Amino acid sequence: MFTTTLDRHQPKAALYAELARSLQALIAGERDWIANLANASALLFDALPDLNWAGFYLLKEGELVVGPFQGKPACVRIALGKGVCGTAAMRRETIVVPDVNAFPGHIACDAASNSEIVVPMIRDGEVIGVMDLDSPKLGRFDAEDREGLERFVEVLLG
Ligand code: SME
Repeated sequence: MFTTTLDRHQPKAALYAELARSLQALIAGERDWIANLANASALLFDALPDLNWAGFYLLKEGELVVGPFQGKPACVRIALGKGVCGTAAMRRETIVVPDVNAFPGHIACDAASNSEIVVPMIRDGEVIGVMDLDSPKLGRFDAEDREGLERFVEVLLG
């Protein structure tokens, strides 16, 4: 059994360092991608405070399709270039949205979401999906979250 003793309220840099180590331990020796994404979303949702959604959209035949996640049921398909997820995938860069209501084209899956961060997953130069975290708090994600979550995706992609 995997047990975690993560202190959710420690300074962000330490929390993300611990989170990366926990993910490494969690996925070590397991090559099933969906299993690892499922556990990664559970780890994020359990470890990070003030989230209402954490999970993945996977690029399939040119559009993003919802993958493993924690939170309320979400929209299934997002076209490239649409919403925060599709925009991050198209630009191939992390997008931090302090206030989703101020992001043109934001796709509201859960009315409770007020801020969001989306990190693209790029393997061998190709976008294979995105990691998406939503929060009910305005401005929940800052530069430290961005750095920590980009590192998390690096570990996930091995
Ligand atoms: N808000 C996202 C849609 C996915 S949900 O937040 C889970 C977007 O604008 O792409």
